Amino acid sequence: MSNVLNSVHEDIYMKNTSLNLSLNNMALGIAVVLAVFANGAWAEKDSRETIILDDESRAFVVQEMQQFVSGLQQALSALSQDDIKSVAAALRPLGMQGMSSAPPNLMSSVPDGFRQIGMPIHMAFDKIADAAETGATTKEILTSLGAAMNRCVACHAAYRIVSR
Ligand code: HEC
Repeated sequence: MSNVLNSVHEDIYMKNTSLNLSLNNMALGIAVVLAVFANGAWAEKDSRETIILDDESRAFVVQEMQQFVSGLQQALSALSQDDIKSVAAALRPLGMQGMSSAPPNLMSSVPDGFRQIGMPIHMAFDKIADAAETGATTKEILTSLGAAMNRCVACHAAYRIVSR
């Protein structure tokens, strides 16, 4: 599945026409439908590890996730215009600074693996913001973002959260 996503992403990036966008969206939609059917009982086969969090910690994680999406959206829009300064501004809040407001018991409530996937992504966003501030090209930033986002994919495949 992630290969499908990667190649769709590459096609969109390489060709960048509305026709290709819609064809690729269709191909992705078909691939998702096929994957769901091939998996049959999708919910029953959910093999992700469950993390149990109190409401405060879960709300923090969900808010962090929404910040990831909106920061990346802003960064990609800025990248499309080679506006590298705005890329840095969009990515900085996704770096380590956001973690300073984490609820005190969040870190002790999540498994090691979750921390090991999660912490470096914040550091990666700081590094990409640093690179953007010091003259990295659009292509270099896209490459780094693609690599960092493997952690989104890996963590979502491995964990789910339920409220205590
Ligand atoms: C360390 C693990 C981890 C990483 C890294 C991670 N996520 Fe998540 N994400 C989760 C978990 C677990 C959930 C489910 C949370 C829930 O529903 O309680 C989630 C949920 C989400 C949601 C749904 C939020 C909502 O409103 O319910 C979005 C969107 C999301 N992640 C985006 C991202 C993006 C984009 C990245 C990478 C930039 C990312 N995540 C990286 C673990 C992670």
